[in-house]
Amino acid sequence: MIQEIYQKTISFAAEKHKKQFVPGTEYSYVVHLSNLAMELFAAYQYDSNFDLAYAVQLALLHDTIEDTQTEYKELHDKFGEKVAIGVSALTKNKSLGTKQEMILDSLARINKLEKEVGIVKLCDRITNLQKPPKHWDKIKIHKYLNEAKTILDQLKMKNKYLEDRLLSKIKEYEKYL
Ligand code: NI
Repeated sequence: MIQEIYQKTISFAAEKHKKQFVPGTEYSYVVHLSNLAMELFAAYQYDSNFDLAYAVQLALLHDTIEDTQTEYKELHDKFGEKVAIGVSALTKNKSLGTKQEMILDSLARINKLEKEVGIVKLCDRITNLQKPPKHWDKIKIHKYLNEAKTILDQLKMKNKYLEDRLLSKIKEYEKYL
């Protein structure tokens, strides 16, 4: 049952991210994770042509390797290989030179996997395109917007509803430039 999968996964993620906040706020990082899950459930009402349970697991775990001490093996043992591989693709390879290279590399790995992995990446950026933190300057905002355009550009044919939604969030975000 998806409800049990959700509970198990969000508890694991909440424990891993327990010292982390949503950037620019004092909210628990779990708010970011639950926002991704909310986007998935909403998208599923319009286009149910994806595995919701798999996507929800990826959404709740997507930053565990990148931001916490979690290792691939732990995800593999607790959630299985498919989930662990998906989370790995959603993780930046920090040994690459620039942020742009890291993003393109991650998107290329995402595109080799099932569409749910790309769907979660779309939800991640949709969720993150909110009012930028006060300390961001115009250059940073511009870069973030360009990254969003790259993500939309590279992740085609995953889910039409989410593609349209990301496009409209990008247009809305341009007012902060
Ligand atoms: Ni994220």
